[in-house]
Amino acid sequence: MLRKKSVIDTDSLSQEDIDLIFANADSFLEVSERDVKKVPVLRGKTIVNLFFEPSTRTKTSFEIAAKRLSADVINFSSSTSSVKKGESAIDTLKTILSMKVDLIVMRHSDSGAVKMAQHFINVPVINAGDGKHQHPTQSLLDLYTIKKIFNKLEELKVAIVGDFIDSRVARSDIDLFERMGIDVTVVSPTMLLPEDFSKMKVKHCIDDVIEESDIIYMLRMQFERQDRKFYPSIMEYNRFLSLNKDRLLKMKPGSIVMHPGPVNRGIEITDEVMDIGGEPGEKITIDRQVTYGVAIRMALLYLILS
Ligand code: CP
Repeated sequence: MLRKKSVIDTDSLSQEDIDLIFANADSFLEVSERDVKKVPVLRGKTIVNLFFEPSTRTKTSFEIAAKRLSADVINFSSSTSSVKKGESAIDTLKTILSMKVDLIVMRHSDSGAVKMAQHFINVPVINAGDGKHQHPTQSLLDLYTIKKIFNKLEELKVAIVGDFIDSRVARSDIDLFERMGIDVTVVSPTMLLPEDFSKMKVKHCIDDVIEESDIIYMLRMQFERQDRKFYPSIMEYNRFLSLNKDRLLKMKPGSIVMHPGPVNRGIEITDEVMDIGGEPGEKITIDRQVTYGVAIRMALLYLILS
């Protein structure tokens, strides 16, 4: 049983919760490998994916997770709903709840929107990303990916690279990684760092961490959340922060590259690295993150609703 039925941020998750989610994810990973990828544990439950902002990975992953547990899933996208006719998010929420659903997965472009919505929701809610605030299931799947690959969490060195000021993934990841004993360095120009990062270990160039890190975590440049010019130029970004082939080949044996997706090819990671094969290509774990994301979300839905 999880400590809380709703997951709004990483603070909602205790160490025991995380252990329980990971143990269940191991079982559900096995279900996803079967020929018939379905178990009947959530038969009769109705889950609504309420997305007020675009998504590929998170929405599809929650949908597949719910279906593999035999729940009924309704996908709501604001772009094809009565929100387009002016209905508010709260009225939309009340309408959905009147249909007697069992769990809401919600994404919104405003930071704090999911927490606020929780006051109107009488069923569990999972934050699928709210503005610049939090993306707790992304950080769970990231942590799980690291644990599966390294078989440990303590004493690992992760360098998180890119746009922190606009990143909900960075906030969630840093919180969980540090709680688990992972050594975190942030790599970013000052203009992409929030003021409250003054206590973090900071570097300004990826070359300062590339050889010593176990994990290079590339953040997505959050163009849709930037209300100002993001950086002097893409050429400047490439020079100090992008992962290119030369830098990939300098990484130590056994180290990995992560990214939450979607990747801006040519900005965070070059096309050449994204498509690289052979041994260097095995370092890129983006697809594994997505695979493990389904197992993590199956575990979470199961533990909340069963
Ligand atoms: N990582 C992530 O949240 O991706 P989507 O925006 O595609 O869901």
